[in-house]
Amino acid sequence: MPKVIINDVEMEAKPGERLVSVARRNAAHIGFVCGGNGVCQTCQCRVLAGADQLNPPTAVELAWMPERRLAEGHRLACQASIRGQGPIEILSKAEELRRQAVHVVQPPANEQWVDQLNPLVDNVLKLWVDQLSRYPFNLINAVRHAGPVRFTNPSDDVAQWVDDTFRVGSMMLTGSAAAPRVPGQGRAEAALDNAARDVRRAEAEVKRLS
Ligand code: FES
Repeated sequence: MPKVIINDVEMEAKPGERLVSVARRNAAHIGFVCGGNGVCQTCQCRVLAGADQLNPPTAVELAWMPERRLAEGHRLACQASIRGQGPIEILSKAEELRRQAVHVVQPPANEQWVDQLNPLVDNVLKLWVDQLSRYPFNLINAVRHAGPVRFTNPSDDVAQWVDDTFRVGSMMLTGSAAAPRVPGQGRAEAALDNAARDVRRAEAEVKRLS
């Protein structure tokens, strides 16, 4: 089984699985507003180790993120699939921002809150300049590259989405996901994992033939 560490917690993962699926199943603090369709950008994360154990950035990521951001190791967890045995370590953008905000409110010993503010402001500004301010243009770009279908039905499995959202919230507030996933749920996610695998195969085939 591939070894995957998300936000400092080691999690079970399957070969070929997308990072967002691993995170959701384990109630990790990560965004998945669009249900893993590459639209919302809330699943953004930074790969701290094992980038070569993931598929290369997809057309959707290339459409959304400037080269600088990709070079810094940023990925969309719904586009990044496991292709090796790991170890892979990531920090979700949601968790990174949360930790930075906590440090401003409760600075570590012998530190000033003002000093803690800099990394947070820097992070938010970069996010704004690189992506948020360009959202409409990036959206058009992403539609051009990925086709409009994924944008017409962004959340394929609402029940699963709601369940996972509660589990993530519970994990953050109490340190426990409260309840395991309901068996049988997650079919839409599995379908997206399979689709991601098919896209990877098709991209490799196109590369081979060109
Ligand atoms: S979950 Fe929305 S872009 Fe990845």
